[in-house]
Amino acid sequence: SQVPLAINEPVRSYEPGSDEVKSLIATYKEMWKEKMNIPMVIDGKEVTTGDEVVITSPQDHQHNLGVYHKGTMQHVDDAINAALAAKEKWNNLGWEQRAAIFLKAADLIAGPYRDRLNAATMIGQSKNVHQAEIDAACEFIDFLRFNVEFMTDLYSEQPISDNGIWNRSEYRPLEGFCFAVTPFNFTAISGNLPTCMALMGNVVVWKPSDKQIYSAKVIMDILSEAGLPDGVINMIFTDGKETAEKVLAHPDFAGLHFTGSTKVFQSMWKTIGDNIHQYKTYPRIVGETGGKDFVMVHPSANVDAVATALVRGAFEYQGQKCSAASRAYIPQSLWADVKAVMEKQMKTIKMGSPEDPSNFVNAVIDENSFKKCKGYIERAENSSDAEVIIGGKCDDSKGWFVEPTVIETKNPKYESVCEEIFGPILSVYVYEDTAWSKTLKLVDETSPYSLTGAVFAQDRYAIAEAYKALENAAGNFYINDKPTGAVVGQQPFGGARASGTNDKAGSKMNLLRWVSVRSIKETF
Ligand code: ALA
Repeated sequence: SQVPLAINEPVRSYEPGSDEVKSLIATYKEMWKEKMNIPMVIDGKEVTTGDEVVITSPQDHQHNLGVYHKGTMQHVDDAINAALAAKEKWNNLGWEQRAAIFLKAADLIAGPYRDRLNAATMIGQSKNVHQAEIDAACEFIDFLRFNVEFMTDLYSEQPISDNGIWNRSEYRPLEGFCFAVTPFNFTAISGNLPTCMALMGNVVVWKPSDKQIYSAKVIMDILSEAGLPDGVINMIFTDGKETAEKVLAHPDFAGLHFTGSTKVFQSMWKTIGDNIHQYKTYPRIVGETGGKDFVMVHPSANVDAVATALVRGAFEYQGQKCSAASRAYIPQSLWADVKAVMEKQMKTIKMGSPEDPSNFVNAVIDENSFKKCKGYIERAENSSDAEVIIGGKCDDSKGWFVEPTVIETKNPKYESVCEEIFGPILSVYVYEDTAWSKTLKLVDETSPYSLTGAVFAQDRYAIAEAYKALENAAGNFYINDKPTGAVVGQQPFGGARASGTNDKAGSKMNLLRWVSVRSIKETF
């Protein structure tokens, strides 16, 4: 390989009282007071519009963190034009030069920007120290370094030469510009979607979620310092629906890299379909969307392992991971014990601002999310079909706080077992021990998703049965482990059905979506 082999960035442990944690919290406190003024970035220039939108933190909706500048459809046009103008030079730069920029960005995050990117994620997206570290620092660094390695492998492929014939493949960027639409919940995903397309030689219009602009600004600063040329990635803050309509109607639109809701992705796909005759080339469409991720527990499972996986899988980052464990199927014989261990663990969970690193749970992202969670909890409290057995308190007096909540039901079709909530709510369906095979079928019968899922069992026959019965139920399938926390380079991430196009983030498969391959045969 012509670049250093990627290894996963070591995760800092942020032990209480350590220099690491003191430095991070000091940066957090400085940023809390900083009042950022966040421009769009088009053609490498900072664009302010005067249409200022105040940014608040989920843990304190009265605290003003600064403003971002909202753009118009003119800015969308400007971003597309800047991308197209930068295209030829960027393409001609060559893959080694592109690699150097993104490797430098990874080093900047690993070193001087680590605290700032983590603190921005803690403040703006309400992540605790550890959740910020595995996302904004480690996963983003891993995406950048591993993608460079995957690209190097592609460009280093040996041509096949035999009997006067020379066959080779040329990996070229897509013709036109690409569109990255990114979510609030992972700084790493937000950074990966535009950068992996750019790494492969594409030029990009990037629209981050309104709820993640605070850390998106830090990402743009890092890319600029790493030497990303003007116009290669253009970051805009514009109305989502209008922007999609405009971008997807452009004849040079060549690829969509999306992470977000199933509904929005489907509507964008439909718009692309409606515009199909206008494009110069069939656009690539890659999406990672919703999930209703299951934990399927067999009577032979280890109780402590199940309880720990449920507490961590369901409540880390307030359940706001597309991979979060949100429905558990637990046999009657184990339920009392699993519940007891969960209750014991959940009693130790502290909820509050990420400024105190001992707070495991922070606020949910915004008022909509708060109201949605509260609605599910209230309906369960008033339902004859369900019972709130742990947690259930909601408090929006300062921030959007929802206590980690467990709902128990005997109805496998109860709303919270089937619908994506995207909050700290776990639904448990308790089944008769003898109904294992029948219960496995419920996973597919009650949800359209197929993102992540886990099976817990010590009995190898049970594992084998679940492995087969759930073969289409999860793009990331875990055996005796929680269904969250895929690591770049170890578990390529993504799902199918209503969960996405399964183009596996953090793998060569994903990078291949952003190139158009020319196969060349030469005869001597
Ligand atoms: N890639 C993230 C996880 O696996 C969403 O939890």
